[in-house]
Amino acid sequence: MRMPRELLPDSTLPLLLAPYRFISTRARAHGSDAFAARVLLQRTILLTGEDAARLFYDEERVVRAGAAPRRLQRTLFGQGGVQGLDGPAHRHRKAMFLSLMDDASLRRLERIAQEEWTAASAGWVGTAELPLASATRALLTRVACRWAGVPLPESEVRLRTRQLTLLFDGAGAVGPKHWLARLARSTADRWAAGLVEAVRSGRLAPEPGTALAVVAEHREPGGELLPSRVAAVELLNVLRPVVAVSVYVQHLAHALATQPQWRERLQVHDREAELRFVEEVRRQAPFFPAVAGRVRDDVMWRGMRLPRGRRVLLDLYGTDHDARSWDAPEDFDPDRNRPDEQGAFAFVPQGGGDPATGHRCPGEPVTVLLMGVALAFLARRLRYEVAERSLAVRMRRLPAQPVDGFVLRDVRPVLSAVTQQPA
Ligand code: HEM
Repeated sequence: MRMPRELLPDSTLPLLLAPYRFISTRARAHGSDAFAARVLLQRTILLTGEDAARLFYDEERVVRAGAAPRRLQRTLFGQGGVQGLDGPAHRHRKAMFLSLMDDASLRRLERIAQEEWTAASAGWVGTAELPLASATRALLTRVACRWAGVPLPESEVRLRTRQLTLLFDGAGAVGPKHWLARLARSTADRWAAGLVEAVRSGRLAPEPGTALAVVAEHREPGGELLPSRVAAVELLNVLRPVVAVSVYVQHLAHALATQPQWRERLQVHDREAELRFVEEVRRQAPFFPAVAGRVRDDVMWRGMRLPRGRRVLLDLYGTDHDARSWDAPEDFDPDRNRPDEQGAFAFVPQGGGDPATGHRCPGEPVTVLLMGVALAFLARRLRYEVAERSLAVRMRRLPAQPVDGFVLRDVRPVLSAVTQQPA
């Protein structure tokens, strides 16, 4: 069977105009979960849905070396990091990331996040308009650095916040913002490499088990240390996404504002309800539209041939909204079956499959934890109004976000909550 193909000579523009919906809409129009198109002038196979995710995450069939577009390597990912590795080299490097996420480390992270939310939110009181985006990026930069064992003098908070933000917020942009993201990548790489070298030479002694200590001391399977520029990329692979959780925090606040019955329900501390709410936000919120791989050897799938070396893009957003896996997928319903219990290939906001053996994000527990702390403050410990304009979400932006980064007005603490309720 011949794979359906887009008629346009290049689909980059329609993809940029509807980054979250393009693949699923066109797949439905073709009546096929796989179709061919040119993206960024390259022949590409676009895949959507749970079955296609199973194909994409089978490392015998799809690999990562050379898959990511260059513009993302020079901004979002950096060069030489875990995202572009395959096979045993990937597993070995991946184990390093998973070792950062044990229970003790997550407990420490929770404590740090609670302290930083308490300190930052005290400073928000009395502000006429507070864009949650910029406020939480700075807060999470502090959290990321403390957790990772990275020194962050007060005078550097703004600079590092801006650099780490540009890595994920400017990567998908076109024009000047993309160039700023490239600049941020080279300066952030130099900064992180300097930290790694300072640890190796004994000038800096981060707590054992922190990301900086682990990355600086990590050894490749052959026993050698990582080149410092690669260690820098891996350290930024921890710092950058912690700051990126600020995007989910905006979507949490947006969901609270548009779901008054949930806002009310969450005023009472209830761990299960909070987790349901967080997981439904992760399922619904537009973050990374898709991930890229390359066909390892010729593959036959549903009677269609995927030729060796061809780039493939898996639709993450469309898979999380696929009516074959989710009842009423467009409804925001935390009472549905918990998304994270629906299998490793249906719920893929941070990739699919097994994080230990494949490329699924190792930071999901960190993300859920940081969103939980944010939710405690947004639903219980703070009162505020919401600027009407921020109820609209800009879906062409990458990553999408509420207008003006979700603006809060007249933030005030709930005094009884501060003393009586756990965060
Ligand atoms: C804002 C929340 C986050 C989102 C939306 C997100 C999303 C993703 C996605 C889509 C992937 C790619 C999966 C693939 O290639 O198949 C990924 C990979 C990765 N993420 Fe996350 N992530 C988040 C938070 C985190 C956190 C908090 C960390 C670390 C502390 C982290 C570290 C990584 C790493 C190291 C990889 C590469 C894994 C690999 O290639 O094996 N992420 N993430």
